[in-house]
Amino acid sequence: MNHFEYRDGRLHVEDVPLADIAAEVGTPAYVYSSATLRRHYKVFAASLASAMPGGRHTVCYSVKANSNQAVIGVLAAMGSGADVVSGGELKRALKAGIPAEKIVFSGVGKTSAEMRQALEAGIKQFNVESEPELAVLSEVALGMGVRAPVAFRVNPDVDAETHAKISTGKAENKFGIPFDQARDIYRLAAALPSIDVIGVDVHIGSQLTRLAPFESAFARVAELTAQLRADGHRIRTLDLGGGLGIPYVRNAPWPQPDAYAGIIGRTVGHLGCELIFEPGRMITGNAGVLMSSVIYVKQGTNRRFVILDAAMNDLIRPAMYDAHHEILPETQPEDDDAWDRADLVGPVCESGDTFARDCEVPPLAAGDILCFETAGAYGAVMSSTYNTRPLVAEVLVDGDRFAIVRPREDVDSLIGRDRLPPWMQEDAAG
Ligand code: LLP
Repeated sequence: MNHFEYRDGRLHVEDVPLADIAAEVGTPAYVYSSATLRRHYKVFAASLASAMPGGRHTVCYSVKANSNQAVIGVLAAMGSGADVVSGGELKRALKAGIPAEKIVFSGVGKTSAEMRQALEAGIKQFNVESEPELAVLSEVALGMGVRAPVAFRVNPDVDAETHAKISTGKAENKFGIPFDQARDIYRLAAALPSIDVIGVDVHIGSQLTRLAPFESAFARVAELTAQLRADGHRIRTLDLGGGLGIPYVRNAPWPQPDAYAGIIGRTVGHLGCELIFEPGRMITGNAGVLMSSVIYVKQGTNRRFVILDAAMNDLIRPAMYDAHHEILPETQPEDDDAWDRADLVGPVCESGDTFARDCEVPPLAAGDILCFETAGAYGAVMSSTYNTRPLVAEVLVDGDRFAIVRPREDVDSLIGRDRLPPWMQEDAAG
């Protein structure tokens, strides 16, 4: 459920007419709903609580999905922790008010500088993905005279049955430690004085629409945990990653948080560990839309093109993952409107700059506003300035209020980031 709905034929975000936002902020812009963010966080946390009454769990929102300070801030106020994958994300999470002791640090390529930054902050856990990474972390922690809390991310070789570019739990993926090497690396780590081995971590992919792959992966983690305990390790935390899919197609069935939590209860509930979760898309995906205006409607030889002011640089998902985002016109289509087929495209000079091909659209004319749904996760964070298109504005709605939470970038400051090398400056000076 989200809070984008029609009232008297006009699209509202919570209690704010979308047209008011467009008039003040312009298009394109991302628009997020605080109530939806809160609702998704609550639904997720409540499912876990009811599947494992009395069990300890920490929800560490995966900041990569949407790292706007205001968005993280809404979740921080709900008590969320954070999953970060860079020093930059760590800074963002801390700045938005997430306490260090609720932050886990994931990723295959942490640098020693990032490790130092995280140790100084006092984060909850490093999810270590290789032996060389362990060696560097051990050295950095030793140098600082501290102990690094470590879980190893294991690769269970399970097919997540999702898009190949976002599948991470197969043996051929770069992520995690191969299952058959796990016990050796735990033994190695336990002998290092600056490493505190505390847990096991797994994340098999993103946008999982079937729960069976989770079940296989978590069952393997449970087995490994028992083995590690028998080997003498005090495994206290299990980080089960993120990846729960959401409906991109309206009314499509999708895995329910309750069923997901049920699987967790069955597979790892008996181990008495603190459970950590890293949901990203599930929290922010349906809490945001990309608002855009029609620039032209153009009739081609055998198809019609609706040319929008938003483009692939603003929302890369259709071009990159063949992702589908439903459209939501600002004005509610009338029952007797004649819908037609068209391609929805942006102005960028690539044929891949297509949001949807040959899709049913209501009557649209230049100046009309429409939104792409489910753009709150992996939307703004993946945008670029390709074609010298400045980053778009981001807006947060809360009840009947809205505010710009990232102003539209201006072209001059974008160009102003370039520098001429000294020899070209001399040439220019004559
Ligand atoms: N934890 C780890 C270690 C991850 O790598 C990810 C996502 C998550 C948690 C959060 O996963 P989620 O709950 O959001 O599925 N740009 C792609 C998605 C990339 C996901 C990368 N890792 C997209 O737009 O579909």
